[in-house]
Order: sequence, then structure tokens, then C-alpha cells
Amino acid sequence: MADKKSKQVGIVGSGLIGHSFAMLYAAAGYRVRIYDIKPEQVQHALSIIKDQLEHQSENGLLRGKLTVKEQMELIIGTNDLAECVKDAFFIQECVHEELQLKREVHAKIDTLIKEDTIISSSASALVPSLISENLTHKKRFIVCHPTNPPFYAPLVEVIPAPWTDPEVVVKTKELLTEIGQVPVIVKKEIDGFVLNRIQYSIIGECWRLYEDGVMSVEDIDKVMSEGLGRRYAFMGPLETAYLNADGMYSYGNRYAEMIYRVQSSFGPPRKMDGPILEKIHNEIASRIPLDKLHERRKWRDVRLASLQKLKNELDEKTESK
Ligand SMILES: NC(=O)c1ccc[n+]([C@@H]2O[C@H](COP(=O)([O-])OP(=O)(O)OC[C@H]3O[C@@H](n4cnc5c(N)ncnc54)[C@H](O)[C@@H]3O)[C@@H](O)[C@H]2O)c1
Repeated sequence: MADKKSKQVGIVGSGLIGHSFAMLYAAAGYRVRIYDIKPEQVQHALSIIKDQLEHQSENGLLRGKLTVKEQMELIIGTNDLAECVKDAFFIQECVHEELQLKREVHAKIDTLIKEDTIISSSASALVPSLISENLTHKKRFIVCHPTNPPFYAPLVEVIPAPWTDPEVVVKTKELLTEIGQVPVIVKKEIDGFVLNRIQYSIIGECWRLYEDGVMSVEDIDKVMSEGLGRRYAFMGPLETAYLNADGMYSYGNRYAEMIYRVQSSFGPPRKMDGPILEKIHNEIASRIPLDKLHERRKWRDVRLASLQKLKNELDEKTESK
């Protein structure tokens, strides 16, 4: 642990994803400097981190072996970008999803870092080559796109640019695994990466089914939470298909034509706006008013954390057999 404490991670941008990454690295024992363009936002992030760590501690959800106090001591806020990044071996940029802003922030970071620092962006859809093409250290640049909430949904999409040094991909993957996240590699740049492409195809079909009067919002959500999602929490759609028949050939033989017929009826994408947006909003808001979002997020996080505990226990049982 002493070794890790001497290694610094720099977090640039202290909003939702920034403070989440700060917690993940501190829970694993790394020293963290967190910076934001707005000094008051850094203070706000530190107080949210403290609240969340206390909530985790009270509910037996704290990660790693360090106490709340020890984790808090590892996270230091700063209003100076240089202080945040100059001694860091790994930087996670978490500013808003705007190409120009990300380019400007990375141009500054580029002048401040050591040669062997890895510079990562949390970008959700901006491909790494667009953000990094003009950087001196572009071989050290990579995108690490987390899933929200990063603490309870550990998947991180790791996307190298065409010029990213392969060693950076390997080291980033190792680091994310070490802090308890689950990295997957996106082998070539694609708009939306993989998680959002799959997510958007699901949202798109839910939208269409509601707009076409096939099902209510509440029931559409149940199709996932009480149906598909139950399996998907443990295995992906491809393995699900494999198990639903007797392997992939058998699945194809049985269902390929039906799937193709149904997929052919999907039609072009629809824009998520107008009266349908209002109707869907109102249907959900009647159950979860906007002023209760914070409580509902806590409700979600407790369930996601419990699922994680269950998965760990099941994995331990399987390994010990
Ligand atoms: N929110 C999500 O669910 C989610 C999930 C995965 C990835 N992401 C990605 O993570 C990134 C951050 O998203 P977020 O939800 O944390 O946003 P956010 O709005 O919560 O936080 C962004 C922060 O960046 C700060 N900032 C703006 N300009 C800055 C600058 N020049 N230097 C330093 N800080 C600056 C802002 O003050 C703010 O605190 C985005 O690229 C987003 O697409 C978000």
C-alpha cells in the first residue's frame, strides 16, 4: 500500500464521473488530486465523496481495506491544473462532453505532464483520435468510458486511438482491473462505442413500442427489470442465446428467420422529442417526482451494490468447489 500511496492519479473535472473516479482510485489506495475549473465544485465534490463513503460504510458497502478517513485523506482537491497532473502516473479527464472543451483541456495537460504518464478521457462518444490528434503525447492517450454509477456498474470501455501505444492499452487495462473495474477493449473507433450503441438500440425500440401504443412505460421497463435484465445481470445476450438453445448453431436454426423478420420491422430511428417525450416523462414522474431523484438513486445504488455482493459470493462459492 505504501507503494501505491506514493503514486498519484490526477482527476480533471470533479462532477459526477470525476468524483466517482476519485473514489475508485482512493478505495484502491492511490493518492488522488482532483481539479475543477470551478473551485466551489471541488469543495462540493469532496463533500459528496465524504457523504457517499459514510453511506457506504454504514451499509457495509465500502470497497477495499481502507476506512472512510483513510480514503478521504488520499483525496486532495486543488484549483491548480499543474498540481493535479504534473506528478500523476495516470490522468482521468472528466469534463463535459464537448469536443472543443476536451481538446483545450488536453492541450493544457499535454504541456504539464511527464513522458510516461497515461492520459485518459471519460468521453462517452467522442472518439479518441478526434480529441488527441494534435497532442505531443498522443501515443499516451486513451479513452476510458465508465458506466454510471461507476461504483456499482464496474464496466469501463477502453478505446485506444489508432496511434495509442499498445503498452498504454495493456497498462490501462491492468490498472482498471486492479481497482476493481471491468475493462473491455473497443478494438476500433466507432460512434457511440459499444455500450451506448447497445443501450441506444434498446431505448430506440422502447420508444417505438410506446409511441405505437404497444405497451405502457411502466410495463416496458418491467420487460427489462423482471425479464431480460435478470439474465443480463449475469451473462450477455450472446451467451443467453447459446443457452436458450443447444448452442449457437441450434439457436440460429431455430430462430434466425424469426429474428430477421422482426428486426426488419424495426424501421428507421425516431427522434426522442415532442409530445411522446412529454408523455413518457409524465408517466415516470407520477411515480418518481423530480424532487425525489436523489432518494431513488440511493435506492438504485443499494440494489446494485447488493447485486455485486451476491455476484462476489456466488463466484467465491464456484471457485472454492
Ligand atoms: N454522467 C454519466 O452518466 C456519464 C457516464 C459515462 C461517461 N460520462 C462522461 O464523463 C464526462 C464527464 O461527465 P459528468 O457527468 O461527470 O459531467 P458533469 O457535468 O457532472 O461534470 C463536468 C465537470 O467538468 C468541469 N469542467 C468544465 N470545464 C472544465 C475545465 N476546463 N477544466 C476542468 N474542469 C472543467 C465542470 O465544472 C464540471 O464539474 C463526459 O465526457 C461524459 O460524457 C458521463
